[in-house]
Amino acid sequence: MISIPDAEPGHAYIVGAGPGDPALLTLRAAHLLKTADVLLPDDLVSDEILALASPTALVIPVGKRCGQPRITQEGIHALMLEHASAGSSVVRLKSGDPLVFGRAAEEIAFLRQHRIPFEIVPGITAAFAVAASLETPLTDRSRASKLILATAHHAAGKLSLTPSWSGSFPDEATLVIYMPGRDFETLAQDLISSGIAPSTPCTAVSRASTPQEHVHITTLDRLASADVGPAPVLLLVGPPIDPGLKRQT
Ligand SMILES: C[S@@+](CC[C@H](N)C(=O)[O-])C[C@H]1O[C@@H](n2cnc3c(N)ncnc32)[C@H](O)[C@@H]1O
Repeated sequence: MISIPDAEPGHAYIVGAGPGDPALLTLRAAHLLKTADVLLPDDLVSDEILALASPTALVIPVGKRCGQPRITQEGIHALMLEHASAGSSVVRLKSGDPLVFGRAAEEIAFLRQHRIPFEIVPGITAAFAVAASLETPLTDRSRASKLILATAHHAAGKLSLTPSWSGSFPDEATLVIYMPGRDFETLAQDLISSGIAPSTPCTAVSRASTPQEHVHITTLDRLASADVGPAPVLLLVGPPIDPGLKRQT
């Protein structure tokens, strides 16, 4: 029997909700969800996961859709401070892992500055859910000694389609692109210009780990015409994917 402590009054928890499937939550995350007084979930956190919250919990969605902030980052900080100072336990719920493209640095700095005790609970990042769905290792002894997690989306709110490594793209690397945007033609051109072979396998996975998961397997030079599903989408550039994959659509 595992003993997992409840969410504590006056504490904040930055929690990874995983890629979407509630079964992929950690035991710690699920228990905090059940025992917290206040939940501040991002948009990508599924309803099935929120259904695990206590019926008495106050749930305040704090997602920012389509680049149009519904609530500012400062607004999220203010909510954490307000509720934790009032003695509530606060769970800040982020999709995937909270420390991967999740603006956690700002929240950690704020919590430290205001001396709010906090804990970070890791989650399964989208890249790992995608690799599992594709039955494809992200690293491989013979062809992929590096794993690069990149984003095409930058902090200033502008879309930069060139992932920012300096010089040419490293050999024997698997590249995972979070928040790839929708301009796949430019993205593919940029990646090819940075030295990645046009024939490199390229796989777009939409809504990984959910019943709506959609997989499209192509190559970099054909990415522009790819049938990429609805957001959220993750792009995997690099490892050859088994074309007989049973979940391919
Ligand atoms: C703001 S980032 C958050 C990443 C998250 N912290 C993680 O570790 O997965 C959002 C991006 O993650 C990717 N993503 C998150 N969940 C996904 C899913 N279920 N399927 C595909 N991509 C996903 C998409 O690229 C999406 O645009």
